[in-house]
Amino acid sequence: MGDAAAVMDRTYRRQRHIYDLSRKYYLIGRDEAIARLDPAANDGVLEIGCGTGRNLIRAARAYPHARFYGLDVSRAMLATADAAIRRAGLEARVVVAEGDATDFDPERLFGRRAFERVMISYALSMIPPWREALARALDAVAPGGALHIVDFGDCAGLPGPFKTALRRWLAAFDVTPRDDLGEALAALAAARGLTAATEGWRRGYATLAVARRA
Ligand SMILES: C[S@@+](CC[C@H](N)C(=O)[O-])C[C@H]1O[C@@H](n2cnc3c(N)ncnc32)[C@H](O)[C@@H]1O
Repeated sequence: MGDAAAVMDRTYRRQRHIYDLSRKYYLIGRDEAIARLDPAANDGVLEIGCGTGRNLIRAARAYPHARFYGLDVSRAMLATADAAIRRAGLEARVVVAEGDATDFDPERLFGRRAFERVMISYALSMIPPWREALARALDAVAPGGALHIVDFGDCAGLPGPFKTALRRWLAAFDVTPRDDLGEALAALAAARGLTAATEGWRRGYATLAVARRA
């Protein structure tokens, strides 16, 4: 966890205070991913790379009968998430803990081995070993459950210069869109007996993907 935690703490130590406001307009598709979660009563929902808790809080409000769990490698982000969850009065239903997306033990962190819904929102593009994180996330999906992903897309339907400028700007923040996310997800899901589907959102600005376990 050491390196990833140090890098993310450095990245977000100051930014976390303006994170929700500044990301509102460019981390698009997050609310659509939350709408697609649609957990049943008493289902467990895990967000990997939960950051400030923004998605967990929205989802907990949208699905008042489900339980929510979040993990993040950055203690600084978790401190912000924890405070936001308490301010929202959701601490009885939303729990966050420190963990690395590539290697976490949900039993130790949250007392459960699998979750009916797992979500990864704009985190794979910041995790260098993102395929390992994807594999670990798939393994955390309970029978009948699903993994939902939203992240930067391939910009296939957008003008080339826009894509070039966006990629340059993201690179300055160590963000790398995973253009082969769909292929990697399909292969890792199939190897585990899950089915996967990926779609471009807003002309490919974002990718929304889901993998379902029968
Ligand atoms: C761009 S933020 C997204 C936060 C939130 N999911 C959202 O949609 O607003 C990426 C988050 O991933 C976390 N992260 C990066 N690498 C990680 C890793 N290896 N394990 C767990 N979390 C990680 C960062 O600390 C950060 O909070």
